[in-house]
Amino acid sequence: MIHVLFVCLGNICRSPMAEAMFRDAVQKENLSGRITVDSAATSSWHIGSPPHKGTLAKLKEYNISSEGLSGRQLDTADFEKFDYIIGMDESNISNIREMLGQPDHPKIMRFLDLTDHQKDVPDPYYTGDFQETYVLVKDGCEALLKKIRAEHSLV
Ligand code: 4NP
Repeated sequence: MIHVLFVCLGNICRSPMAEAMFRDAVQKENLSGRITVDSAATSSWHIGSPPHKGTLAKLKEYNISSEGLSGRQLDTADFEKFDYIIGMDESNISNIREMLGQPDHPKIMRFLDLTDHQKDVPDPYYTGDFQETYVLVKDGCEALLKKIRAEHSLV
């Protein structure tokens, strides 16, 4: 099994959207038996909370299930458990590295570095622009699936 973890600050806006969208893509490509998907926060602010209403509205709009999404905090055990630990922005990456005690490990990567954008996913909690999040997360998910297929010889 290949284990993918998306991480953001609160685990209520960007990373649960990425979790739901990536899971949807994995299911549509019949890879559910090969890839698991989860998400977590660097903060402890929203443990046990459902996603932000802006994230839920976008998932509904694009007909993507939001089942099982619940806030949790990143844990040191996640480093061993996951093969791809994907942060949404540069500050997530610094926090993940510090929390996991891994200053420079290749399995920890910034989401949009996998795409042509190579920038942060702006935080819609502050911008209010969940459509922008959706578009960028969609690009990121496509790039990540391509990378995983190549690295694990999944046809
Ligand atoms: P996220 O956005 O990291 O994309 O989930 C945020 C959610 C909550 C807060 C900040 C950012 N907050 O300050 O509670």
